[in-house]
Amino acid sequence: MDVFQAIKERREITKYLSKEIPEDTLKKVEDAGYYAPTGNNLPSKNLIVVKNRDTLNQLAETTPYMKWLYDAPAAIAITGNPEVSKYWLQDASIACAFIWLEAVEVGLGSAFGAVYHAEDQEESQKRENHVRKLLNIPNNRRVVAVLGLGYPDEKLEPKNHIPREEIVSYESFS
Ligand SMILES: Cc1cc2nc3c(=O)[nH]c(=O)nc-3n(C[C@H](O)[C@H](O)[C@H](O)COP(=O)(O)O)c2cc1C
Repeated sequence: MDVFQAIKERREITKYLSKEIPEDTLKKVEDAGYYAPTGNNLPSKNLIVVKNRDTLNQLAETTPYMKWLYDAPAAIAITGNPEVSKYWLQDASIACAFIWLEAVEVGLGSAFGAVYHAEDQEESQKRENHVRKLLNIPNNRRVVAVLGLGYPDEKLEPKNHIPREEIVSYESFS
């Protein structure tokens, strides 16, 4: 599968088969996040891979919008370190995107559980601390997201996107 095909086929998959992900398949997905670029090439991100059922179930309670983790056989939490780079949020976000796309390539589905909340620091700390405690994440790391992973138990068609000209313009904003 070429990259563009993965980009076009990617959907958020929240229903998973109860089928284990082989080690080498999961490792490819982990590596996609590992190899993702970072601002100034600084190592601001960490990826925590979770397969323990009990931990996944507790992670599902981080926010009301990631209950799909109850069915996911694996997840990756992505953290950023503001002490290392001012681009920690972008670094972690790009890693999320690479993980999501590689999941498509290896036949997995992925869902995005937003943890970091830019507008409500109190809510953000509550969510992040929940994940931090479960995964033993140091206090100086920000928890950006938890991505669920599993073999899809749903087939979603490509989306109808908003008109391209509303998003893409040339030479100046329009
Ligand atoms: C920054 C960001 C935050 C998101 N947060 C959540 C979330 O907390 N829970 C969830 O189920 N989906 C979440 N999503 C998934 C989006 O809702 C989903 O990607 C969007 O509706 C488009 O659907 P598609 O991925 O199938 O194209 C998030 C996606 C992004 C990029």
